[in-house]
Amino acid sequence: MNNPFCYGTTIGPVGFVNRKADIERLSRNMVNGINTMLISPRRWGKSSLVLQTLHQMKDKQVKVLPAKMDLFSVRTEEEFLREFAKSCLRATSSRWDDIFNNARELLGKITPAISIDTKNPESDLSFEFHWQSKPDPEVILNLPQKIAEKKKKRMIVCIDEFQNLASLPDPVGFQKVLRSYWQQHQNVSYCLYGSKRHILNEFFTDSSMPFYRFGDIMWLEKIAEEHWTPFIMKAFLKSGKEIMEELATKISLTMDLHPYYVQQMAYFVWNLTEKTVTEQTITAAIEEMVRNNDSFFISKIEGMPDSQIGFIKALIDGIDQFSSTQNLQKYHLGTSANVIKIRKYLTQKEIIDQWQMKTSFADPVFPIWFKRRFGY
Ligand SMILES: Nc1ncnc2c1ncn2[C@@H]1O[C@H](COP(=O)(O)OP(=O)(O)O)[C@@H](O)[C@H]1O
Ligand SMILES: [Mg+2]
Repeated sequence: MNNPFCYGTTIGPVGFVNRKADIERLSRNMVNGINTMLISPRRWGKSSLVLQTLHQMKDKQVKVLPAKMDLFSVRTEEEFLREFAKSCLRATSSRWDDIFNNARELLGKITPAISIDTKNPESDLSFEFHWQSKPDPEVILNLPQKIAEKKKKRMIVCIDEFQNLASLPDPVGFQKVLRSYWQQHQNVSYCLYGSKRHILNEFFTDSSMPFYRFGDIMWLEKIAEEHWTPFIMKAFLKSGKEIMEELATKISLTMDLHPYYVQQMAYFVWNLTEKTVTEQTITAAIEEMVRNNDSFFISKIEGMPDSQIGFIKALIDGIDQFSSTQNLQKYHLGTSANVIKIRKYLTQKEIIDQWQMKTSFADPVFPIWFKRRFGY
């Protein structure tokens, strides 16, 4: 019996839950040449959504050329340009010799040497570029438009972990350069996404920043319970096990609808189940998750002052007026200026999430663990 749940990697077409409206909006933008900036906390499903959207477009035979890149390990402008060139060129063909010919045609004298994984020469992605000269920003950043014209297809450039641009030596200067070229591209749609909301929010909504009003900003939400419950029930059935509707719902609600954790908890429950899920199985799965995270959570709250612990307790109690006189006192929060500092610190520590004026726990297992530990 195969495990039907998946967490930690991007979700493929099998097991992808809902997001119909998001896919519709994103693919419409992509086809119509509207740039999209997609933002949500980590592990809510951005990368999966982009891949699924591209996948569905391919299924529907929409004629586009998708290029995907991830800025996770990009630390300099030069690395960015190289990665960018590689992703765009990769999108031109599935054959490395074709890709190389395209590179020669489009990059001219700065074309890098190419090496192929000789053990696996048939594999289309087993090649590496070796750059002899410094990549020329103008030539490289205009590549997608050039490719789109040559191939007579719209190019879709998807850049994951876009907030990492903020850690480049001259982040704003470089963004200015990027935007100056990209905004002239008639046949390219950009999809820029990432998870550090305060950084990305500034990139895209601050009028002094280069990417201000670059396109449609999508704030991705969690996945609603009405979509999780049938998915979980079907997944159990398909793998020869069974779960009642009420317990399937309990999984998604206990995990606060957080995509990654709903999948993780569903997996734990599935794993503990011989045939039919019971209340006890659910409890055992929660216990296991709490246990697994024990040392991790301890390290997060080690040495934490009373006021921060107080804030966590207030949030568990469902408080949203942290700065009322009564709550400042009850939870030892100090002054209302202090509350701002606490929020900032707990956000940095990834204990809480600030989202459209709402504060919640970043990790739904954390408050469960906290209550156990502190008998709260
Ligand atoms: N549409 C979805 N259906 C089912 N599970 C999902 C979906 N989107 C995300 N997930 C779950 O969340 C996890 C994180 O998704 P991912 O796309 O990597 O998020 P992000 O890119 O926002 O960090 C996945 O491994 C999967 O367990
Ligand atoms: Mg991702």
